[in-house]
Amino acid sequence: MSENIHPIFDRLVKRSEREVFLNQKASVFWFTGLSGSGKSTIAEGVERRLLELGYLAQVLDGDNIRKGINNNLSFSIEDRKENIRRIAEISKLYVNSGIITLCSFISPTLKIRSLAKNIVGENDFHEIYINTPLAICEKRDVKGLYKKARSGEITGFTGIDSPYEAPLNPQLELKTENLAIDQGVDKVVQYIIETVRI
Ligand code: ADX
Repeated sequence: MSENIHPIFDRLVKRSEREVFLNQKASVFWFTGLSGSGKSTIAEGVERRLLELGYLAQVLDGDNIRKGINNNLSFSIEDRKENIRRIAEISKLYVNSGIITLCSFISPTLKIRSLAKNIVGENDFHEIYINTPLAICEKRDVKGLYKKARSGEITGFTGIDSPYEAPLNPQLELKTENLAIDQGVDKVVQYIIETVRI
């Protein structure tokens, strides 16, 4: 099968040429944390701020991707793995386009995130742990999903009856409990700019 596939990467415009064009280095910034931890809110703020500063970034997030390309996947651990595998492959394409890629996915286990890192490539993969305690996510319950999970209307919900393993060695960790969204965005933007500045 795969011996009949002939990628043509060497004829395409190179990532390095696009990076010069965009005046930035591309990389993947992978936000992990519980549902309702604030990952996507922070990632969206970061995307906007980067644009204002002249950097091109793109957010990919669970709710959007699962409505489109991954709409055939459930929340079993196997399907979460497939969800993340596809997203990591997509992120790799984005990075090769020179774009700063902000991935916001629960990506609940060490194994799943390590899969993502291996696909993207270690040098391009930055793990950002949005550390919001379960009790706070549940209290906020922005989407009303924790309530449904507690009542049994949803099963296999992360943090309730499906595991979440915190990163052991993230490049950046935001403890959001006493941090305003803007402050969180500031910290991430600062970290990203140090990485992507040419
Ligand atoms: S992941 O585990 O496969 O990485 P992903 O980030 O794509 O998850 O999607 C998480 C979002 O899906 C949550 O923010 C929530 O809105 C929704 N969701 C629906 N069912 C579940 C569930 N059982 N567990 C976690 N999130 C769920």
